Amino acid sequence: MHIPVLFDQVINAINPQDGQNIIDATFGGGGHTRGILDSANCNVYAIDRDKEAGDRASQLIDQYNGRLFFHHGQFADLSSILSQYNIKFDAILFDFGVSFYQLDQAERGFSFMRDGPLDMRMNGMQDCQTAHDIVNNYDEDQLSQILFVYGDERLSRQIAKAIVLARKTKYSECGISRTHQLRDIIHSVYKTNKIHGIDVATKTFQAIRIYVNDELRQIQDALNSLQYIMKNEASLVTISFHYLEDRIVKNWASSHRNQNESGIIVKQIGGTIKPTNQEIKSNVRSRSAIMRHYKIHIL
Ligand SMILES: C[S@@+](CC[C@H](N)C(=O)[O-])C[C@H]1O[C@@H](n2cnc3c(N)ncnc32)[C@H](O)[C@@H]1O
Repeated sequence: MHIPVLFDQVINAINPQDGQNIIDATFGGGGHTRGILDSANCNVYAIDRDKEAGDRASQLIDQYNGRLFFHHGQFADLSSILSQYNIKFDAILFDFGVSFYQLDQAERGFSFMRDGPLDMRMNGMQDCQTAHDIVNNYDEDQLSQILFVYGDERLSRQIAKAIVLARKTKYSECGISRTHQLRDIIHSVYKTNKIHGIDVATKTFQAIRIYVNDELRQIQDALNSLQYIMKNEASLVTISFHYLEDRIVKNWASSHRNQNESGIIVKQIGGTIKPTNQEIKSNVRSRSAIMRHYKIHIL
């Protein structure tokens, strides 16, 4: 079951009002979208790069009587996707990363907990590189760089070396093709499966996923497009699960803290918001969530 992270805090920050037009840039299972639509007689314009999110959205479209609009696409293209409405928006929510539904389906290849093909493409498009392409074709230096930069993996060199060795030996015929094969290579480097209760494959899987989906560039491009689509006074809420996601948001906001030629001023409301111990207990996925709330002023 998908449980939206920091639900009350998100709804309080967005504070939906009748007649408002609100963007959910990461629809996922629609948990936050529902909360927004239930709070006021407002409209939600939802986006997700995963086609399957569209199937979930169509179940809600009737229920909310034409107040929900869904677009399959990536949030880096927000302004072109939403230009057809010819309106400016009151608030926008980004809940970065993967959804429960993506992690839960072994065949999507996101999870080291479930054995499946090494895929990890969020949009399932045929023309994108898969995790399999990267794990089997990139050289040791490239692999180690990806694990270090996107996963902050302290054993990046050793894991990259073990992957390349396994390609030449155990998996020389068909390559490393399954999530459990990759997970087992990482476990063998660490000589254990878990440290402090967290699987040691977590960082490698996260790093490859971020790389496959070009997730950081998506965030940067989406933030840079806000000045063209938001109202003069609007709200921005972000939930990051990785320090690199949060750093992009934080740096973008601080570069717009004061008036300059960019045409947008961004002020953070309060500090960072994290889940309570109780939320982490009932939804372990929330443990690394960091929420930020901003008011944006378009000049
Ligand atoms: C954490 S889930 C969102 C969960 C959602 N807030 C809910 O309550 O159900 C993140 C979703 O964002 C989508 N996503 C990630 N990167 C995206 C991008 N660049 N453009 C559009 N959707 C993206 C993923 O496909 C996934 O469905």
